[in-house]
Amino acid sequence: MVRRLLAVVTAVIAAVGVLPGVAHAQQDVVGGTRAAQGEFPFMVRLSMGCGGALYSPRLVLTAAHCVGGTGTNTGITATLGVVDLQSSSRIQVRSNYVYRAPGYNGNGKDWALIRLASPVSGLATLPIATTTAYNTGTFTVAGWGAAREGGAQQRYLLKATVPYVPDSTCDNSYPDLIPNDEICAGYAAGGTDTCQGDSGGPMFRRDASNAWIQVGIVSWGNGCARPNYPGVYTQVSTFAAAIASAAASLGG
Ligand code: ARG
Repeated sequence: MVRRLLAVVTAVIAAVGVLPGVAHAQQDVVGGTRAAQGEFPFMVRLSMGCGGALYSPRLVLTAAHCVGGTGTNTGITATLGVVDLQSSSRIQVRSNYVYRAPGYNGNGKDWALIRLASPVSGLATLPIATTTAYNTGTFTVAGWGAAREGGAQQRYLLKATVPYVPDSTCDNSYPDLIPNDEICAGYAAGGTDTCQGDSGGPMFRRDASNAWIQVGIVSWGNGCARPNYPGVYTQVSTFAAAIASAAASLGG
């Protein structure tokens, strides 16, 4: 009797665990949990299915692999100011120009700036790391991408924390790693990671003044959250000067 009851309880727990929208949605693969409204005001969702971070009121920093090339582009819609992409209080603005990292060819240099047709107000921007000082420790990642490898895009912003992985370790998993252009993060055991659709979004941490600072841009990985395959991020500090001068050329 006790054994049978146990079996029933176990079956119920198992069933609830796979029901979408119940316990599962709160904490899915990628080890994410829901971000609170306003927690990461700089987070941007881009209509091509990428993330981004508000660099200035008119500029969104994202990944080069999320955009075509440099030039006039009015085809991207940015959604800002909400964790719920369907919220009636969301801000939506079109792009008017894309600047892709010069020399981008699919290996490294995975950054781009998108200029918005009009500046957004009332949203904090995310400063970028200009030195290597913060390329260590524990990072926060966030995005509306898949909550599991091969999974659907998310309506609500998910967040997770991932530890820094040294290039010397990451290189064992990814011989193609470009150590100066890329920075890795994730647990050896897997389970927590960014995934498809998170690309272009920021990886960030606290700086010496306890303010958020961007150290990475979601770039690539082997699957998502697999053991011994950390996420690979654009190493923002390497490109900070190039990003700043590109931003200035775009009008700030
Ligand atoms: N390239 C993916 C995208 O376009 C991001 C993949 C990140 N993968 C990872 N395992 N961290 O959305």
